[in-house]
Amino acid sequence: MKVRSSLLLFLIPFTVDARMDRVYEQHCAVCHGKQGEGGLGGSLVDGTWKYGESDEEVAKIIREGIPDMGMQAFENTLTEKEIRGLIVYT
Ligand code: HEC
Repeated sequence: MKVRSSLLLFLIPFTVDARMDRVYEQHCAVCHGKQGEGGLGGSLVDGTWKYGESDEEVAKIIREGIPDMGMQAFENTLTEKEIRGLIVYT
């Protein structure tokens, strides 16, 4: 029993990651690069945030977009859960 539950804990991050990989690739990679390294949109992995670095601020950006810069809003495309997942992912 003990072995089993720790195996489960070990596997959870991988399933979350694989799923978020797909969400990210489908919706974000065109502009932010396959690895989040940046492109039309800025880098999401360099640790510097132009528009705010708290989870709440990043969530707001994904939800509402940055219309002036060409980043679209995703509140109608992604669920709140997927947005959360992406924040953990990026
Ligand atoms: C149509 C192109 C496009 C798509 C698709 C896109 N973005 Fe962006 N994103 C941008 C642009 C442009 C910016 C603004 C970059 C700048 O001002 O330097 C931006 C900025 C951001 C920022 C703020 C970065 C910072 O430095 O504060 C985050 C976070 C972000 N995008 C996440 C995402 C996520 C997650 C997705 C997928 C759900 C996504 N974006 C999809 C173009 C896009």
